[in-house]
Amino acid sequence: MGRSFYIRTYGCQMNALDSQKVAALLCSAGYGVAEQSEDADLLIVNTCSIRDKAEQRLYSDLGRLRAWKRERPGRVIGVAGCVAQQEGDAILRRFAAVDFVYGTHNLRLVPALVAAAEQGERSARTAESRDPGRFDVPQLHPDLPSATPGRAFVTVMEGCDMFCTFCIVPRTRGREISRPAAAIEAEVRELAAAGVREIALLGQTVNAYGRHDLRRGHAEMAGTESFAALIGRLAAVPGIERIRYTSPHPSFFDAALVRAHGEEDKLCPHVHLPAQSGSDAVLERMRRPYTATEYRALCDRLRVARPDLAITTDLIVGFPGETDADFRATLALVRDVAFCDAYTFKYSPRPGTRAAEFDDAVAPEVAQARLEELQDLQRSLTLAAHRRRIGEETQVLVEGTGRHAGQVSGRDPYHRVVNLAAEVEPGELIRVRVVEATPHSLIGEPLAPPRPFAPAKSVKNPPSQADEGQCLGAGFSPSTINATSAS
Ligand code: SAH
Ligand code: SF4
Ligand code: F3S
Repeated sequence: MGRSFYIRTYGCQMNALDSQKVAALLCSAGYGVAEQSEDADLLIVNTCSIRDKAEQRLYSDLGRLRAWKRERPGRVIGVAGCVAQQEGDAILRRFAAVDFVYGTHNLRLVPALVAAAEQGERSARTAESRDPGRFDVPQLHPDLPSATPGRAFVTVMEGCDMFCTFCIVPRTRGREISRPAAAIEAEVRELAAAGVREIALLGQTVNAYGRHDLRRGHAEMAGTESFAALIGRLAAVPGIERIRYTSPHPSFFDAALVRAHGEEDKLCPHVHLPAQSGSDAVLERMRRPYTATEYRALCDRLRVARPDLAITTDLIVGFPGETDADFRATLALVRDVAFCDAYTFKYSPRPGTRAAEFDDAVAPEVAQARLEELQDLQRSLTLAAHRRRIGEETQVLVEGTGRHAGQVSGRDPYHRVVNLAAEVEPGELIRVRVVEATPHSLIGEPLAPPRPFAPAKSVKNPPSQADEGQCLGAGFSPSTINATSAS
């Protein structure tokens, strides 16, 4: 039997998509897909370093993997992703069991690195690249069923030039670069032809797409355009019925993008809009270039364009120097905007960032208490938003099995999880009526028979938590790409 691989992925959707692309490259190189790490000859850990806990997972994995490697001669271990990008060959020096390391811009090198590792050569490749061709790695392969049937993620830009003082991402994903619109469109056409109905456009500051090229007058040469123009272009691709994007930055909503939310039917009525804090003093120390008033005004503009828009957010508590009054300002923002949902985090100092040097840390027990208070508030707002939906008709793109036997689960256009009792294949779109609300999801009843999904290949075991990382950096449960399984 041929050699097989297993990829364990931490972090955001961009990491998950990178794993999918590497899996496709390995399939093309003749590797088979292992159902679990125990069956694999090659194991890749695709890492995240957004918070301390995320990074620690790599180190605890590597401890265990020494034994995995000893069990079968010829086994090979690779480390990828954001920790790999930062640490490079230091990982090879520190962990004898690791055979190769590759960074976030070096996916294409993986088959060669694996081949070298099988010959006993240990190497690390983490060079940054400004070549937009690096995005054009196919995510589909006939041997690799989709992890998210009917739905796909498409990178439109990568990297970040914002340098928020708490955030490691500019150091792990490099400088902002936008991919040519024609290449994005070609990928979306291919995905649509394989049965994809919903695309989620990915980028660390996704709505900054094309901004540097437009500002410098280079857009034509670079093949980029405004983000709103890109959305319009992709909405015209036959077969694509829903478009989302994640994560936008509040500073890059121009009039055309706001208008698109009112005018472009395929653009989903949901924006994940990280606020981070509701205190101007904290926002300034975070180097977020907006005030809480400007953030509220942006939410208002978006809701004028699309009154039923669902807004979700990311919030950090316990940032250095955060006073009780600062924290109350965050609670006030949450109440005023009435977020549909929020990812809430305790600040975690990241070595190499500006904030890691701030000396006015908030006591851990204070940060914990604030996190709990914030989560209590958000839970009540989410439940209230869900209850308001009871009786409404909506449309669900089914992703996999639901929480209870006989149920399936999917997302509606507002990105809410809907569970329903129905026999529906993953990837199908079904009209439902919302009949019940829980704090985490809606419960629906089917209204009409679903429209079948037409995949390039049948899908086995779709991952039930496939969408944990709906916002970049927010989904930190491990997902694995061994073609289909996220267990
Ligand atoms: N590009 C997105 C966020 C990417 S990271 C944006 O600009 O909004 C995802 C989320 O992780 C962030 O929105 C932030 O809330 C959180 N995060 C990032 N660094 C963090 C840190 N050092 N400690 C705690 N949370 C952090
Ligand atoms: Fe960039 Fe977002 Fe990180 Fe800020 S939080 S540095 S915008 S990735
Ligand atoms: Fe990297 Fe995404 Fe984590 S960009 S640091 S994997 S959140």
